[in-house]
Amino acid sequence: MTPDAPSTTNDPTSAPPASRGALSPRRSLAHAFVAPAVALLLTAGAWIDSNRRSAEGRNDFFLGKGAVPLPVIADFSLTERSGRPVSLASLRGRPWIAGFAFTRCGGPCPKLTGEMRKLQDSLAGTDVSLVTFTVDPEFDTPRVLSEYADQFGADKERWLFLTGDERAVKKLVSESFFLPMEKDPNARPSERITHSTKLALVDREGRLLNYFETDDRLEADGLDRLVKRARLLGRTTCMPEVNAALNATSGLLLLVGLALVRRGRVAQHKRTMLTALAVSVAFLACYVTYHAQFGSVHFPGEGGARALYLGILITHVGLAFLLVPLAATTSVLGLKGSFERHARVARLTFPVWLYVSSTGVAVYLLLYRIYSGVP
Ligand code: HEM
Repeated sequence: MTPDAPSTTNDPTSAPPASRGALSPRRSLAHAFVAPAVALLLTAGAWIDSNRRSAEGRNDFFLGKGAVPLPVIADFSLTERSGRPVSLASLRGRPWIAGFAFTRCGGPCPKLTGEMRKLQDSLAGTDVSLVTFTVDPEFDTPRVLSEYADQFGADKERWLFLTGDERAVKKLVSESFFLPMEKDPNARPSERITHSTKLALVDREGRLLNYFETDDRLEADGLDRLVKRARLLGRTTCMPEVNAALNATSGLLLLVGLALVRRGRVAQHKRTMLTALAVSVAFLACYVTYHAQFGSVHFPGEGGARALYLGILITHVGLAFLLVPLAATTSVLGLKGSFERHARVARLTFPVWLYVSSTGVAVYLLLYRIYSGVP
């Protein structure tokens, strides 16, 4: 018996684990590395590919849409309702949602601005800003915009109302957002401007990611999708990083624990595996807290990327449920000194646990790193 083996009649070091049972445990455990390795390789591939493409301003891995660079909003210089100048640089570093309206509008503008007010509430706790560009800058002075903004309870810090030179606004709307803005001087003031009711989502680098329809006759779930995308882009918590780190740590501890027991270092194996258990319990507590606070996070990728993500996520969650009784039984058998039975159960627990930990990291990478900037 090695000095750190527990004193029990069921001597764990009396025979090498590989010599017991019909099935070779080394081989069965070797198979355990295959699934996590494949999941991590696919994820690493997606990451490398997306880094290469995002250097060119595009993120189309697996999207099957062709490599179209994302348009970047051109710099502008306008005036906020408070009177301060605002340029593209003032908005850099946080995601923002642009809407186009005018205060005299007798058509869809009140509804559109009302929807932006709802977004202000739904996006509390993120760093997403809202920006309303007036399409009637001749009439909508900072003072007029200020009164309009107050009617909608617009937060002065998070929701900007911009006006300025009419030609500059028109150039921005049509050449950066690719949206219509037409003025008919002969029409009644409430109908004078024709413009889009879409909202545009812009990322932290000023890239135009996507449009979302506010008119639910045209697109019923447009705003739901916008809230999900914006919450993902504008999160301010680092809980997903903490959770991924906890998963990576428990995975590494499992590997170290296995290596230790293979060398007959049972006491160290015990400590390492119980630490892995504590780390996984901490992960579970953080995961539940995070999702109770922020709800579920929508994956924005499509096609093959979505199938890969859902395949990993579903097996990850399913096996995580199975892991609870398995890890508990394995630990209790180990602690009680029933090592034969412990080893038998552990041969199932180990691959399941390793898969759950490594796919936890893969889910984080896919959702928060690789696909967070997908249009
Ligand atoms: C919760 C966590 C644990 C896990 C996942 C785990 C996992 C494993 C694995 C994978 C093996 C190798 C099985 C084989 O292929 O032969 C093993 C063996 C062993 N473990 Fe654990 N273990 C855990 C906790 C413990 C604890 C608390 C002890 C207490 C001393 C312990 C003692 C042993 C011993 C003595 C062996 C060698 C058994 C034999 O070869 O017959 N383990 N464990």
